[in-house]
Amino acid sequence: MQTIEKLLTCPAITGSEAQMLRGRAAAVIEGNLEQFTDAFQPSNSTNGFYIPCGNTTWTTGFWTGEIWLAYEQTGSGRLREAGERQVESFLKRIRDKVDVAHHDMGFLYSPSCVAAWKLTGNEHAREAAVLAADNLMERFQEKGGFFQAWGALGAKENYRLIIDCLLNMPLLFWASEVTGDPAYGEKARIHIQNAMKYVIRPDHSTYHTYFFDPDTGEPQKGVTHQGYRDGSAWARGQAWGIYGAALSYSRLKNAAYIDIFEKLTDFFLTHLPEDLIPYWDFDFQDGSDEPRDSSAAAAAACGMLEMARHLPAQKAEYYTGMASRLVRALAEHCAVRGEESNGLLLHGTYAKSSPYNTCPNLGVDECTSWGDYYYMEALTRLTTDWNSYW
Ligand code: GLY
Repeated sequence: MQTIEKLLTCPAITGSEAQMLRGRAAAVIEGNLEQFTDAFQPSNSTNGFYIPCGNTTWTTGFWTGEIWLAYEQTGSGRLREAGERQVESFLKRIRDKVDVAHHDMGFLYSPSCVAAWKLTGNEHAREAAVLAADNLMERFQEKGGFFQAWGALGAKENYRLIIDCLLNMPLLFWASEVTGDPAYGEKARIHIQNAMKYVIRPDHSTYHTYFFDPDTGEPQKGVTHQGYRDGSAWARGQAWGIYGAALSYSRLKNAAYIDIFEKLTDFFLTHLPEDLIPYWDFDFQDGSDEPRDSSAAAAAACGMLEMARHLPAQKAEYYTGMASRLVRALAEHCAVRGEESNGLLLHGTYAKSSPYNTCPNLGVDECTSWGDYYYMEALTRLTTDWNSYW
């Protein structure tokens, strides 16, 4: 456990350190293009190394997003060409509906295609991202008012929202902006309102998922999928809540989301271990030999840096400072320095099985594609006035 007073004494990354690390990360990303231009990085490394895979699962947008972040750093034509090749793959994927029967259209299409559209005006990227938003819209459930995460639409055993989906909502706001159709943003607003209402507990920890009755839409219960137990706080879920609240505020300007952001962030920060790298679930504290999830710290730092843009100076400074401490800790304890990995950030955990959850061990103590992406995004946010992909 931490106190805010103690956290304030932890060192923060400096601008020149962040710039140096961003340059180093961009070089690793460009160096990876040989293997990962016509192939993608999978969700996580295996023994430290990503093995090339096709454009499937919910995570491939992060690798393309890294390419765009590196392109912003270096302006390299090679990176741009690789990013644009990957956009074609994303367009084909959504046109052919390959592995898109789930809600993670934002994780897939914001860092890949919305990014490409914003950076290069690529029309295929715009088309792909709008199609992805249309695909997500099909998962909206009027009864309960949310986007169903997984499984057959309307099936009782999957009639739930999950906290991660807050990161899929920016794609819908973007689609409303570029098409002029307010329906996308309106459904996103309803989903956000209900997610905030049900996944946040009185102590400001969060449920991973929340079930509704498919017949009446009545809220039923919070249940974990990737956390340790139903009543615990899955570290990455808490981070999705932090970043999701910041992004929701940035679009909706609902003051309640500032308050939620502050409370979720306070829970996250005060449950960190001494070295600031969260265990995969906040049930575990200093002294535990459970694995860490560095990606949760990277995503939470991005959320704090996003929210800082919308807050008065003193609060903005506070959250920028906390994010800078997390990034400093990631750089010290998790950043890849040499040949041990072809990723950027070690010590992530995709999923850890427990007696009380419903997932197998996946990518335990490995690089994760989103951990790498959000680490690079945080470094970019710390060194530029970044035009967000989200
Ligand atoms: N969105 C799934 C995860 O964070 O693992």
